[in-house]
Amino acid sequence: MLVDGQLFRTVWIPKGEENIVRIIDQRGLPFRFESVDLRTVDEVAVAIRDMWVRGAGCIEATAGYGMWLAACEAAETADFSTAFNRLAEVLRRTRPTAVNLSWALDRQLEVASGALGVSDKVAAVHSVAEEIADEDVAACRSIGEHGLHLFRDISEIKGGSPVNVLTHCNAGWLAFVDHGSATAPIYRAHDAGIPLHVWVGETRPRNQGARLTAWELGKHGVPHTVITDNAGGHLMRTGQVDLVITGTDRTTYTGDVVNKIGTYLKAVAANDCNIPFYVALPSSTFDWSAQDGLAEIPIEERSGNEVSCIEGLCDGEEIMVHLLPQGSPVANPAFDVTPARLVTGLITERGICKANEESILELFPEKKLS
Ligand code: MRU
Repeated sequence: MLVDGQLFRTVWIPKGEENIVRIIDQRGLPFRFESVDLRTVDEVAVAIRDMWVRGAGCIEATAGYGMWLAACEAAETADFSTAFNRLAEVLRRTRPTAVNLSWALDRQLEVASGALGVSDKVAAVHSVAEEIADEDVAACRSIGEHGLHLFRDISEIKGGSPVNVLTHCNAGWLAFVDHGSATAPIYRAHDAGIPLHVWVGETRPRNQGARLTAWELGKHGVPHTVITDNAGGHLMRTGQVDLVITGTDRTTYTGDVVNKIGTYLKAVAANDCNIPFYVALPSSTFDWSAQDGLAEIPIEERSGNEVSCIEGLCDGEEIMVHLLPQGSPVANPAFDVTPARLVTGLITERGICKANEESILELFPEKKLS
């Protein structure tokens, strides 16, 4: 996407520079737009674990490129395969919920094992890293095309007055390589001239909505308003929301959606108010082996500091302040599971389907379990 007139992806290999993966460092946003160079697998692991990069597709692509650094490191050892497998496990341990991470690692492990000599393995992993990133961009672009119809339909019913869409967390281009998942239809509809307005849920504790989604939408000129997480239900009940679109970090083949904590409450409210609740995802976010989201998908528990402190700008300086009485215990589950029955539809790169096994497998017949 364009940032102040310049095209950016969230992660890339800078041309002409040796063994570097460059990322947009999301920690500084919206106050600072900066990139950081990662040179080792350990640095990539820190960047994923500590959320310098975050969001399912961005984690996936960073892991894909990280495996290229892993291949370069493994090529310096006496036993490529042992070292490469060990480095993949370093990356796998960083974040448990987004299935895209394992998807990218397993794809790279398979590619390397299929190539013969060490230099062929390194070259194959490099080209698949670029492929993973390019595929993510293409999938998100298609999600935008399919989701555009939802906006057209609602806009027509509303006689051209703005379509009000509510989103949660950041499933924007920063969470992918480009375009985003939940935001792809929004950007596409906005660019097609459909009047729309986005309610951006701030998304405590890390405020990805307030800090990242609002920044992205602002840079693209999309009308939006930031709200507290608790305001969503009220806006829905008072007729100020036409549809909800969120992203997801992992979705079962039966349609249960794991996404940033708070998504479930939005879905419950949307269901109560008869408001369509869509989830946008590339197919790399499906977990083709998980049937029951609540029982089978690990929910990451993050540091309590994310709840007890909040970061912001004060007199031009980025500071962290404490919010709680000293000694109050905190809990910080980072994701929740929205049952398929509360999801109106899934917007994928192949089209929109219902959130159930039959409809999902109709779009992805090659995934049918025998
Ligand atoms: O913890 P994060 O910020 O990596 O969480 C992931 C998310 O950004 C959201 O859950 C998002 O809606 C889905 S990922 C595209």
